[in-house]
Parts: sequence; C-alpha cells; structure tokens
Amino acid sequence: MSIIMDGNGRWAAERGKERTFGHVEGVESVRDIVEAAIDEGVSYLSLYAFSEENWNRPGDEVTALMKLLMKSVKGEYDSFMKNGVRFRVLGNRARLNPLLDRAISALEEATKGNTKLTMIAFISYSGRWDILQAAKKVSALSASDPSFDPSSLTMEDFSKYLVTSEIPDPDLIIRTSGEQRISNYLLWQGAYSEFYFTDVLWPDFRRGEFRKALEAYAARDRRYGKVK
Ligand code: FPP
Repeated sequence: MSIIMDGNGRWAAERGKERTFGHVEGVESVRDIVEAAIDEGVSYLSLYAFSEENWNRPGDEVTALMKLLMKSVKGEYDSFMKNGVRFRVLGNRARLNPLLDRAISALEEATKGNTKLTMIAFISYSGRWDILQAAKKVSALSASDPSFDPSSLTMEDFSKYLVTSEIPDPDLIIRTSGEQRISNYLLWQGAYSEFYFTDVLWPDFRRGEFRKALEAYAARDRRYGKVK
C-alpha cells in the first residue's frame, strides 16, 4: 500500500503558518500511520516523501524538507527497532546530500532484519525517472553482455530493473488533500492499483482516516482486466 502525502502546505496556510510547519506536523502523521499499518497487518507501506519535481520548490523549503528527513532518519531508529520496521529509501539517491544518503544507508542496514513492516520512503523519485533508469540499465547490459537478448525481455524481467524490484506493486494508492492525480508517482507499478482519494489534508490524516481507506479498499472488486 502506498500514500501520496499531500496538503501540508495548505494545512499550514489555514493556520497562518509557514509551509514547513505543515511538513513538521506531516511527520506526526507518518508516525501514526506506520503504527496503524502495523496494527492492521500491512506488510509494505510506501510513502511519497519527495518527488524529483519537488527539487524545483523554493530553496528554503527544499532545505527544510531535507533537514526534516535527516532528523527523522536519525530519530526513528529506536521506534523502528521496537516496532519491527524495516526502512528503505528508493529514488534518485545520487541527488541527495551525501550526509543524508549515508544516514539513510545506515538506517537501512540497521533495520534490515526487521520483518513486521517494510516502510519505503520514495525520495527524489518519479515514475518516469524510474522507467528511464531501468531502460538505461537494460541498454547498458545489452551493449556489454553478448548473451543478453533484449528482444526476449518480458515485462516481468523489465520490472527487475526498476528501483522497486524487491517490493510488491501497491494494491492501494491513497492520495490526500483532494487532488486526484498520480503526479508521476508509481507509473509502472501502479498499473492495477486501486486508488483512494480523500479531501483530508496529510497532517490530519491519522489512524481513523487510514481505516476508512482500508474499508473502502476492502469493498472494491479487483478484476485486473478480466471478467469475474
Ligand atoms: C506534500 O504537501 C508533502 C510533501 C511534499 C512532503 C511530505 C514529507 C514529509 C511529511 C516528510 C516526512 C517523510 C518521512 C518519510 C519521514 P505539499 O507541500 O505539497 O502541500 P500543498 O499541496 O498543500 O502545498
């Protein structure tokens, strides 16, 4: 299951505060939803924390978001260990500050034995970037390895070159704050995902709202293009 966390800026503006204030409160929602997901028996929870496009936001907002990510990465170790959370970051990590990248790698390493919930933060990620980097890997492989035959590549094979190769495609994608679009998120992986849109802004999206989304999902009839 995956969430496009949207509406932090508006939540802050409604209170006459800076956008960053909304992001700080958004981290509280992340904590609450991670715990709720564990209680509901969810195995994979992925969160769209920072898109490739988000690099184009004003410099001070980007800096504040990166600081907040660093703080979360450094501060969540105890709760991840206590709750059995494995932490992963997927995206264009080459664009991250090396200090943040190293802190992320350290937390990934420290939590890799945890099995209750895998929490994936997509950072500096976009769906088109992911598909393009996979295509580049395939093309480099076909240039360097004569035994590799790209013409026989299946969709399943191609998925292995995406950064999400080790995690299942999301059954459900939730987007908060009333926007009803995918915004260059899991374009390949979301091919058969159910979507749940809510007007609730991310800082207000807590356990009760999460349950509502799960209930709506449970009532869906997934056919994968087939007739049942
Ligand atoms: C969208 O609201 C939210 C973001 C771009 C950032 C979300 C990031 C966090 C909550 C940081 C913590 C993440 C982890 C994984 C610890 P917006 O700024 O687009 O709001 P708006 O649409 O109202 O302007």
